[in-house]
Amino acid sequence: MSVDLSADGQILRLQIGSQSSRFHAIWLRDNAQDSHTRDVRNGQRLISLRDIPQNTYMQTAALVGTDILRIHFMPEDRLIDFSLRWLQAHIYDRPMPKQVGWVKPELALWDSQLSEHLPVADFCQLQSDKQQQLLWLQKVVRYGFGKLTNGPVSDGALYQIIDLFGYIRETNYGRHFEVRVEDNPSNLAFTGAAIQAHTDNPYRDPVPSLQLLYCLQSTASGGDSMLVDGFTAAQRLRDEKPHYFDLLSRYCARFEFAGEQGVCLHTRQPMIGLAADGELTGVRFNNRSAAAFTDVPFVDMADYYAAYRYFGEILDDPVMEVAFRLAPGECVLFDNTRVLHARKAFSGSGSRWLQGCYADKDALWSKVHAAANHKVL
Ligand code: FE2
Repeated sequence: MSVDLSADGQILRLQIGSQSSRFHAIWLRDNAQDSHTRDVRNGQRLISLRDIPQNTYMQTAALVGTDILRIHFMPEDRLIDFSLRWLQAHIYDRPMPKQVGWVKPELALWDSQLSEHLPVADFCQLQSDKQQQLLWLQKVVRYGFGKLTNGPVSDGALYQIIDLFGYIRETNYGRHFEVRVEDNPSNLAFTGAAIQAHTDNPYRDPVPSLQLLYCLQSTASGGDSMLVDGFTAAQRLRDEKPHYFDLLSRYCARFEFAGEQGVCLHTRQPMIGLAADGELTGVRFNNRSAAAFTDVPFVDMADYYAAYRYFGEILDDPVMEVAFRLAPGECVLFDNTRVLHARKAFSGSGSRWLQGCYADKDALWSKVHAAANHKVL
């Protein structure tokens, strides 16, 4: 283990084993963890960048014991200790992802082969065992969905699932919505027709990032729930048809819902969402609420439609889906920015009653990450 400074004190090089990492003086000073810079109770930064001299440099840097790097910052004349473990966890001198459409390493992308290993847990067990609860929530983060069995068969039971990690996202559809299929439907929405894989409410900004579907009644034959990993599908599109991936991620689609008195929801977002550095951040796909696309240049519109069709064919490909049946007391929680859901057609008589609601994944990820940081579960 060794440390050295550039002649001008602007760059620190830290060598730990075979790993050599460089850090800038201004970055280190801004990220100091001392009590002058950070509140010891909540970790929030107490200074702003303007409080740090623009000509900040390091006069000395030395290893102290096994986990401390002590740096003397000038012209402030301030000695600040850094944890080597913290520095190792925050190295930025590393190759950046080059291929557009990359995903966070904590995500596991999947296709139909996951059917044998669905992320399933027993609701009763989760309620009494915090560790099991955390393991299931980690799977929801990793796979973008999780199924629960053995829950109560009662109106509103779905709220107990959201209570495990966060909060309901109330919308104009209410705190929850009913999905009923009846023998003699009064509304086409309540028929047993198959529904193509889609994400919900792409016409909202921000879009609800989690959805829960909870089964209370299921006597009809058919009607299996299907899920598709939109990130797997997007990467497949990228690998098979890079130009199509580029079109769907570069141009905005439009989505709208104005089917209720006093409601006019409208968004302008790409079907494949990317961060500025190419990270895959979300998929919006819903034939029922797609509006007229007016943000694709005339010269690209025909290709855009070919790309839209091709992406839909990937999403419809059976090798992409996992299918399962929800029995009363069972539910599925999924990331509505990543995982598309669909329903197979019903046949015969019987009824099916699901209750659904939305929530947001920031609370879910927060709970999982807080536990990983050994904070209170
Ligand atoms: Fe839906």
